[in-house]
Amino acid sequence: MCGIVGYIGKDNAKDVIVDGLKRLEYRGYDSAGIALIVDGEIFTYKKQGKIRNIEVELRRVPVYSNVGIGHTRWATHGKPNDVNAHPHLDCTKKIALVHNGIVENYAELRRELTEKGHTFTSQTDTEVIVHLIEEELKHSSDFFTAFLSAVKRLQGSYAIAVITLHQPDTVFVARKDSPLVIGLGEGENFVASDVPAFLSYTNRVIFLDDFEIATVTSSQVSVFDLNGERVGKQTVTIPWSLSLAEKAGYKHFMLKEINEQPRAVADTISGNLSWLRKETELEGIDLNSFNRIQIVACGTSYHAGLIAKFYLENIAKIPTEVDYASEYRYRDPIVDEKTLVISITQSGETADTLAAMRLAKKERAKLLTICNVIGSTATREADTVIYTYAGPEISVASTKAFTTQLTALFLFTLYLSRERGTLSSEEVERYLRELMELPSKLETFLNLEKEEGVVRKIALEFYRAKDALYLGRHVNYPIALEGALKLKEISYIHAEGYPAGEMKHGPIALIDENVPVVVVATKGKVLEKVISNIEEVKARKGRVIAVTNPSVKKVGELADFILQVPEVDEYLSPVVNVVPLQLFAYYIADFLGYDVDQPRNLAKSVTVE
Ligand code: M6R
Repeated sequence: MCGIVGYIGKDNAKDVIVDGLKRLEYRGYDSAGIALIVDGEIFTYKKQGKIRNIEVELRRVPVYSNVGIGHTRWATHGKPNDVNAHPHLDCTKKIALVHNGIVENYAELRRELTEKGHTFTSQTDTEVIVHLIEEELKHSSDFFTAFLSAVKRLQGSYAIAVITLHQPDTVFVARKDSPLVIGLGEGENFVASDVPAFLSYTNRVIFLDDFEIATVTSSQVSVFDLNGERVGKQTVTIPWSLSLAEKAGYKHFMLKEINEQPRAVADTISGNLSWLRKETELEGIDLNSFNRIQIVACGTSYHAGLIAKFYLENIAKIPTEVDYASEYRYRDPIVDEKTLVISITQSGETADTLAAMRLAKKERAKLLTICNVIGSTATREADTVIYTYAGPEISVASTKAFTTQLTALFLFTLYLSRERGTLSSEEVERYLRELMELPSKLETFLNLEKEEGVVRKIALEFYRAKDALYLGRHVNYPIALEGALKLKEISYIHAEGYPAGEMKHGPIALIDENVPVVVVATKGKVLEKVISNIEEVKARKGRVIAVTNPSVKKVGELADFILQVPEVDEYLSPVVNVVPLQLFAYYIADFLGYDVDQPRNLAKSVTVE
């Protein structure tokens, strides 16, 4: 986690960096700081709190500089306070450094450097890096060599940006296991943890790979490996526009991103149609090379994986397991060259998911990733990539990433089913037509909600609840999990998702008139069963909020509150059914006055294990 930004060029670095940090705040937000080279000295300003709390002061600081670095922090080592905020300086105050990641050997390095006379001011692991560079400089011919030697001694994960009075016209960067991207401008260059930080200036980027370092001046970017040898890099043009990374009049990014789902789903279909229609190849996948699938993912992406299991087993007829990526490598999975491992990840940088992918690769499995971020680590390590076209997802609570992941996974299922003969071409086309109708159905639902505010009114009724139960079955059981996750992560209300039929084996004890029970009860093979489960809740005086279709009269009669969603094919119903639950969580968090986009203790991209 943590976001880093660096700038060198013709503008006032301070303003560019503060803007960039605001766009990266989703990565961490407990403290922030900047360092600039001003009149032959390093000027730093750092403080506990969110960027927006310190932005006014930062803007007021009367300094001008063409080179600088900045950081927004998600604390790992050392409390979130002013001292532990980055940038960190060496003893001579000639080197300033920001870091995202964890230095695993920081304790021994700190001991060694302290013995050599270095003084530490913070409790962070990061501070050792800047002192290490200072130490290496004593034995090196130039700063680059010292930087290289220091980086080589680091264990763990890092994205680092450094400025120094020893070479004031250069920003030095390095990467291992934490994202770092360089933005290419005209007479100016940028470095950042993620593209939106500089998207208003350039969409031409170079992604740094692990064990690479780079020197960035206003006119040149040079990339090297850890032997100091030059590395040729590709320039990538990112097709995102800045408007996608801005709120566009919405109160929060989450609300904007929920409302973007019709466009995001439509783009994900059209962006992937060419390989489905065989106009292009889905490269890297030999469909005859595997006889089972394992899905690895975390959080919301894991819930998409649980739904994909139904797709892949029921439609494509391939045995499929789904694992939390954080558990996968510790359960000694049976994985070999006959296994296709699908990682699902919005960011492409989730440490647990990457670790699971690496384990699978070691065992010679083929890797497919479903990912939203072009050039992210997952996309570079996988054999095959299917992109979701959600555009940048800024809110920590994942919404449009989820529905586009389901769309991409469904498309892949259709492809696989046709190639393996479990669906005819006609059946594939029929499913495809159903899929293509989703954007307009989502649009209809969202427009109606804007006019009538049904979800909002129900949220107003329940926002003081202390607990909530979410029930679903079959493909909509993961939607119950996802609804509960959304509610707890942004409103801090305890919520549990359960398979509705499992309720009687325990959670039924929780039910009384104070616990809202959200039930997904749309048309499908288990609807009658779900209706019986609603009866069981009602018999215990539970208050039921049902997500259902207008034609399902019985649920309308039984439930206390109804969230009506358009009717779609059962397999696609999760894409539609999740939307009212996203909105329900959103409104509750907003009514409670919480910071919806940046919930406490969380960060968008979890780059530590
Ligand atoms: O970027 P990823 O999809 O790999 O992220 C996985 C989870 O960290 C993420 O889905 C998380 O659970 C969200 N905050 C949920 O809204």
